[in-house]
Amino acid sequence: MPIPVIIDCDPGTDDAVALLLAFASPELSVLAVTVAGGNAGLHCTLPNALALTALANSPTPVHAGADRPLLGRFRSEPGVHGDDGLGGVKLPPGGQPAPGLAADVIRSLLRSHPEPLTLIGIGPATNLAIALATEPALAKKVARIVLMSGSREAGNVTPEAEFNAWSDPEALSILLDAGRPVVFATLELTAQALVTPARIAAWRARGSGSCLQAACDIQASVPPSPRFGRRGAPLHDPCAVAWLIRPDLFTVRPCSVRVDLGPGPGRGRTLFDPGGRTGDPPNATVLETLDADGFFELLGQRLANLP
Ligand code: RIB
Ligand code: CA
Repeated sequence: MPIPVIIDCDPGTDDAVALLLAFASPELSVLAVTVAGGNAGLHCTLPNALALTALANSPTPVHAGADRPLLGRFRSEPGVHGDDGLGGVKLPPGGQPAPGLAADVIRSLLRSHPEPLTLIGIGPATNLAIALATEPALAKKVARIVLMSGSREAGNVTPEAEFNAWSDPEALSILLDAGRPVVFATLELTAQALVTPARIAAWRARGSGSCLQAACDIQASVPPSPRFGRRGAPLHDPCAVAWLIRPDLFTVRPCSVRVDLGPGPGRGRTLFDPGGRTGDPPNATVLETLDADGFFELLGQRLANLP
């Protein structure tokens, strides 16, 4: 039976590939896509999600959500994703957003679906947090929360913090307090999923479908990261989706994790303690290693199956 999921995202060049992977994978039943501001403002991330859903011919409803974090002001990441969130790649416009705001739809689906749902969070966690904070009893309908979030060492938006955690640390803290299994694809995991020109070329050679070509064009727009000697850029968000589809490509480790909610330079830092030195009980699972060749093969195969 396919795993029923809700994907909360901020497309986003890597969110784009994550959404296409999810739409192409019979292992998942994507009940809804909910959108937040993040990589770009909601005025871009929402139409981007609509365009990607239409490109994949997916019937999945797309819902608008938070355009800012729970506290503080909205800050985007144009350096990686461009001002429009998709690196300047123009897709045919999608349809209209489905009625209902993200947090209301997440709660409604949790309430009504016959089995617990998996929440996939690949952007700032604001929508997921509002849903669970305003109806905590629904946590029992959450099978697990799978996040691209956090870093065990250096950050990517500040020296200390990863972008999604930094964008709304209070939201991440609410998810950690929900008492449900939380799985993290951190920057250390996604660093093993480096998109290189050779890997993009290998994808392109697999077919001529619009989704495959769009994924290649979008990934080719991402500047190679100086953190990796400009060999390529980490493909963050599809790691969270791929774990649900092919957990055999990953190794995992239980871990305690806390998030820094202070106002200082460490705000949004995630404090992972795999060795249990803090004495805190493990409250999360961290994805530790990735079979990168298997991951890119999965992506190429699934993207080539899309329209
Ligand atoms: O730090 C990487 C994460 O922040 C990814 O989800 C990327 O899309 C941005 O949202
Ligand atoms: Ca994202």
